[in-house]
Amino acid sequence: MSRIVYVNGDYLPEAEATISIFDRGFIFADGIYEVSAVIAGRLIDCDAHLARLERSCGEIELPLPWSRADLIAIHHELIARNGLDEGGIYLQVTRGAADRDFAFPKETTPTLVMFTQERNMSQAPAARTGIKVVSCPDIRWARRDIKSVALLPQVLAKQFAAAQGAAEAWMLEGDVVTEGGSSTCWIVRNRTLISRPLSQKVLPGITRKAVLAFLDESGFSFEEREFTLTEALDAEEAFITSATSLVMPVVTIDGRSIHNGAPGPATLRLRELYLEFARTGGVLG
Ligand code: PDD
Repeated sequence: MSRIVYVNGDYLPEAEATISIFDRGFIFADGIYEVSAVIAGRLIDCDAHLARLERSCGEIELPLPWSRADLIAIHHELIARNGLDEGGIYLQVTRGAADRDFAFPKETTPTLVMFTQERNMSQAPAARTGIKVVSCPDIRWARRDIKSVALLPQVLAKQFAAAQGAAEAWMLEGDVVTEGGSSTCWIVRNRTLISRPLSQKVLPGITRKAVLAFLDESGFSFEEREFTLTEALDAEEAFITSATSLVMPVVTIDGRSIHNGAPGPATLRLRELYLEFARTGGVLG
């Protein structure tokens, strides 16, 4: 079945949607993206994703001529036109098409592309068994807080993982875990969740923020600090968060079982709380 996608003001069957070969997203990866989750036909925490989009665009001086309300309306229209019940909505904005020249072109209209992807997230079988991850060096640039479409390091990291039957790569600087190829990394030690502080070294995860809002209800405490791979291998639990994996248990790292090799209580409780939040509207108060 062909999807209806959005390109620069038009809703089109995917086979008819085109952009210029001169688009700076294609030529320079000069663009920003977001991925918002849809569960039970509802958009989850989209406002927070759009706030991060605005911030990312601001950091690279990419004008965003659409209001948050405009962008939310397009998300809803895509959900309706595609009958999307569960999955993600991908949004990409680039500096537009112009003859190839590194510095910003004058008077270029940004390109906006959005499409839906169906995905089983709330009942994902991997959430029951947990996923395998492998570690690899983090070879990315110094502004990982910007959600840039330049993702080759993550493509290579996730392919490295996939080739070993793992679902995610945990990227390392020395022995310190920075983040997953497309997720935030967490461990649990002494009933305390541990995840690194936000900085230019990591993307400020929207799912991370939601999980932290459920702390009191979860009964677990939180320590915001860097952690090492060595600590992760010795943890009671490990998990990842992202718009597409929600809260996902990690049961092995580099072939070594975390604790007893099964999803742990903190991870499962946080996943349950996240799903409850998603199903009842998915907006942080
Ligand atoms: N990735 N860190 C990185 C490097 C990411 O790419 C992502 C999300 C996250 C988690 O952010 P959030 O909780 O806001 O989804 C952390 C998306 C899902 C992707 O690239 O497909």
